Amino acid sequence: MKKILFVASEGVPFIKTGGLADVVGSLPKCIDKENFDVRVFLPKYTCISQEMKEKMRYRMNFYMGFNWKNAYVGIFEANIDGITYYFIDNEGYFSGMKPYCDNPIWEIEKYAFFCKAVLSALPLLDFRPDLIHCHDWQTGLIPVYLHERFAGGDFYRGIKSVMTIHNIKFQGKWNVKDVKQITGLSDYFFAPDKLEAYKDANLLKGGLVFADAITTVSKTYAEEIKTPFYGEGLDGLMNARAHDLRGIVNGIDYDVFNPETDNLIAQKYNAVNFRKEKVKNKLKLQEELGLDKDPGTMMIGIVSRLTDQKGFDLIAYIMDELLYNDKVQIVVLGTGEEKYENMFRHFDWKYGNKVSANIYYSEALSHKIYAASDAFLMPSLFEPCGLSQLMSLRYGTVPIVRETGGLKDTVEPYNEYESTGTGFSFSNYNAHEMLRTIRYAERIYYDKKREWNKIIDRGMAADFSWYASAKQYEEMYNWLIG
Ligand code: ADP
Ligand code: GLC
Repeated sequence: MKKILFVASEGVPFIKTGGLADVVGSLPKCIDKENFDVRVFLPKYTCISQEMKEKMRYRMNFYMGFNWKNAYVGIFEANIDGITYYFIDNEGYFSGMKPYCDNPIWEIEKYAFFCKAVLSALPLLDFRPDLIHCHDWQTGLIPVYLHERFAGGDFYRGIKSVMTIHNIKFQGKWNVKDVKQITGLSDYFFAPDKLEAYKDANLLKGGLVFADAITTVSKTYAEEIKTPFYGEGLDGLMNARAHDLRGIVNGIDYDVFNPETDNLIAQKYNAVNFRKEKVKNKLKLQEELGLDKDPGTMMIGIVSRLTDQKGFDLIAYIMDELLYNDKVQIVVLGTGEEKYENMFRHFDWKYGNKVSANIYYSEALSHKIYAASDAFLMPSLFEPCGLSQLMSLRYGTVPIVRETGGLKDTVEPYNEYESTGTGFSFSNYNAHEMLRTIRYAERIYYDKKREWNKIIDRGMAADFSWYASAKQYEEMYNWLIG
């Protein structure tokens, strides 16, 4: 039995701010249980729901030297769907209303503490992983520490590490002096071929330099991050490590995201009866959100973090033109940058019967939007993989996306001559190119309903469960562990 440890800053069903949590919560369950024992480490944030906290039991505590202090480390454990989860407890670091905050140096201290605590806890838990699978910058110090203070001990010798990039934009950067003090790493590590990048210390870079292999969450993004536009300053390193870098596309949990069994939606449906049943979700949502109740109006859904990454400046640019002229409804669920929250609030005020802006986080409403909408808009500037478009495909909701990263790999553009494709896409980051694509989708929706339904047929038949991608992770684990 090979032992794999996932380490991440968020994971469903405990704590989620975005797609990382979906991946960490669903991939371990899909790794072959006959050959792999996969466990997961997360921080025990005080903002985890009471319901989920009640599923944890206290295991032990110890004190660890960290940042010139003797820091308390508590360990909790939970078992969900056959997966063992461990949690690092320290309320000094993991309290607050949300997992993350806007203070970079505090974030770095918090996750440096987390990384060191995870590695220190392993011998006490008597769990020696053959491989540690790290996710995003928050866990970048794990491969580094494995080559540094933990390298000497028998317990840690030979533990492999993998670094998965879910978003190369977030790197955990701060000045070398402070990061040196916090991490306790020597000068040796703060050189341009190790943690240093453009004079700053960079924790993601540390992970990428010291990990035995690197993955990211789609094939196209794996290529994109080797270029200056997408590489966020690390494209040189990505090229240097190109042989150790692979793109493995994300899947979604087909048990949770299943319109046939989903208790969060008003009317269940499947790939056979969606023509009749799916629209009942739209009618119910129109009623709930105070939109014009009309089964025939094309509803476009958006469920997203409201950040520049997701292409909201394009949407802002054409909203008036679209809403003034076209027969569409826009339903938004999201939180994030204030300018985008206010932008959607403004259009909700201006076009109340056509726009519904829901500026909060809600698992339940997200499922209702995936089920109710006819189309799903995701014009991202960059998108490592994207899960929302996969959820849309699963719910028979036709994605309209920009051809970047995982969106390009998972949405096949509609071709009316060959009757192929699962969605609509455009290539340049241009508001009117997006608008033309939305209008093309409208034309098919309104004038060629049979064609539209065939797009849905193909989308619902596409398989974005974890099955194929989990196999690729297994292959990589086997190859690295030997
Ligand atoms: P990212 O990880 O960049 O945010 P993904 O498409 O990979 O983008 O994943 C986003 C996940 O977060 C999806 O599961 C989506 O449904 C969910 N999500 C985003 N915003 C909200 C929200 N306000 N309420 C509920 N779920 C949300
Ligand atoms: C990141 C990316 C998103 C990806 C998710 C899970 O948040 O922005 O594209 O789907 O991670 O890998």
